[in-house]
Amino acid sequence: MRIDHFAIGVEDVAAATEWYRETIGLREVGGGDGRRFLGCGGRVDFDLAIEGGGNGLRHVAYGCFDEEEYEAAAARLEGSGLGSVEVAFQGPGVERAVAVSLPGGHVVQVVLREGVDHYLRVAHWDAKAAGSPREIDHVNIAVQDVDATVAALDAALGLRLSDLHNVDGHGNVGAWMRAGDRHHDFAIIRNRADGLHHVAYQLADAADVIRFADRLAMAGTTAEYGVGRHGPGSNVFLYVRDPSGNRVELTADMASVPAGAPHRVWRGTDPSIVNSLAPYGPPKTFWEIT
Ligand SMILES: [Fe+2]
Repeated sequence: MRIDHFAIGVEDVAAATEWYRETIGLREVGGGDGRRFLGCGGRVDFDLAIEGGGNGLRHVAYGCFDEEEYEAAAARLEGSGLGSVEVAFQGPGVERAVAVSLPGGHVVQVVLREGVDHYLRVAHWDAKAAGSPREIDHVNIAVQDVDATVAALDAALGLRLSDLHNVDGHGNVGAWMRAGDRHHDFAIIRNRADGLHHVAYQLADAADVIRFADRLAMAGTTAEYGVGRHGPGSNVFLYVRDPSGNRVELTADMASVPAGAPHRVWRGTDPSIVNSLAPYGPPKTFWEIT
């Protein structure tokens, strides 16, 4: 099972589609039912579904490659006590889907994705896609209750905990979880409200993240925050907001974590948690959610 796609809401579907195509570099791979589907360069499937009705996260989906894996994942979801429901149409290449809601209302799906590549390859890249995202990377949701969300993701998806961020007197204010061996594909930060902090796409390497920031500047857009390197996961980051305010991270060079490794606990208000390259924090807007 791997993180498969995000579905996000926007104010204007046509404007958002153009922005994700022209600014982020995703390819449009289909549409219908009021949704538009876009993909990264490294696979043929879609990674992002865009729909109208206002900004925010509609769902995040984990994909299974065959029937047997899907049946096991769906059974786990059903047994999680979160109230799983079968979902009908989800997008091109998605054959079956089942969903649950996390304690903060975020919808997580498990989908069956037969016929999809198991690994990234260059077969579907073209010259225009050079320097564009090659793969979906992770989601970061804002929640009021970090511990309940961690427990739900463990029960529903079997995600493993890579790191926690704990502040004396406040408990756990952040968590990073993984389905495979990469440090996180699901991150959680505490907030006064539940919502979306960001979705992230993977570039080939850290130099590509800097080139991406240069390209934004040359196009007359600036990033919201970055380039920097996170403490947890040690990934290089750059954040930008889409026309509806949804935050997008371009990232590279995330650490791998061995299967049985215990999680690490980051403590206090050390600024190196957010950015290990500089002793200052992000701009105030960085704490806005959608
Ligand atoms: Fe992130």
